[in-house]
Amino acid sequence: MAIRNGFCYHAAMIPQPLDTPEIQVAQQAAVAAGKVLQRYFGTDFQIRGKQSYNLVSDADLEAERAIVAVIRTAFPDHAILSEEEYTQTVLAEHTWVIDPLDGTNNFAHQIPQFGVSIAYLHHGSPTAGVVYDPMRDEWYLAARGQGAFHNESPIGVANHERLDQTMVGVGFYYDRGAMMEGTLLAIRDLFRQNIHGIRRFGAASIDLCWVADGKFGAFFEFELSPWDYAAAMLVVQEAGGQISTCRGEPLRMVRSSVLASNGKLHSIVRQTIEPHLPASC
Ligand code: IPD
Ligand code: CA
Ligand code: CA
Repeated sequence: MAIRNGFCYHAAMIPQPLDTPEIQVAQQAAVAAGKVLQRYFGTDFQIRGKQSYNLVSDADLEAERAIVAVIRTAFPDHAILSEEEYTQTVLAEHTWVIDPLDGTNNFAHQIPQFGVSIAYLHHGSPTAGVVYDPMRDEWYLAARGQGAFHNESPIGVANHERLDQTMVGVGFYYDRGAMMEGTLLAIRDLFRQNIHGIRRFGAASIDLCWVADGKFGAFFEFELSPWDYAAAMLVVQEAGGQISTCRGEPLRMVRSSVLASNGKLHSIVRQTIEPHLPASC
């Protein structure tokens, strides 16, 4: 058992390729959330609609509270921005950005593809990122300057140089208008360049990590929130990939479009999808 910042955790239970206090606290928080999600998964829990198709459940709320309790114990003065209940600024010196359940729609439909996403930001820039898949017990971890890992193993992006060598991941924001239609047109234009396929798995944090470990040559979505991408952004960068808005601008920890790639494909994917991006994105 290790003790850091007054917080105790069982170090032997989880892969620990990165030995920073923030990564270790984030992992412990993710384990706590994962236990909540595993307990709720497949049960008859209550779901409320932010809209009829944008869901929130007791599992989201309880998992988030479990994460915050761990972080607050270790770092009582740090700010927290989370999807459900905490709205502090990412401009603080120390901020945690949290999605307790990324893939709520999958979760609600008993599809075991969802993640816990926890990022630590120093002056607004992610320096530690953890994405945990509790159903597979798989970890994606990154610390600034120290690489990206899948469980204990270092990861890197795919070596694909052309679209006809690669698989592309996509997400659809909770929109049934211009953003949805633009996304479909962008997919059509990628297919016309002979990509191997399109995949929509429904948990953006994991999709982004799948760019980092080379499953996807690229992933894009026309709108995501900081809690969807903050942790995975660092995983992509530390794996040697590139991540930006779909217009190629830097991500600023606000709601925006997101394009991640292995770097080599960034420009061709951006050129293909950008014409279909609504002006509001
Ligand atoms: C959603 C998932 C989904 C993406 C949506 C996100 P949530 O997060 O990441 O894959 O397409 O845009 O909002 O609501 O399940 O936490
Ligand atoms: Ca999310
Ligand atoms: Ca969520």
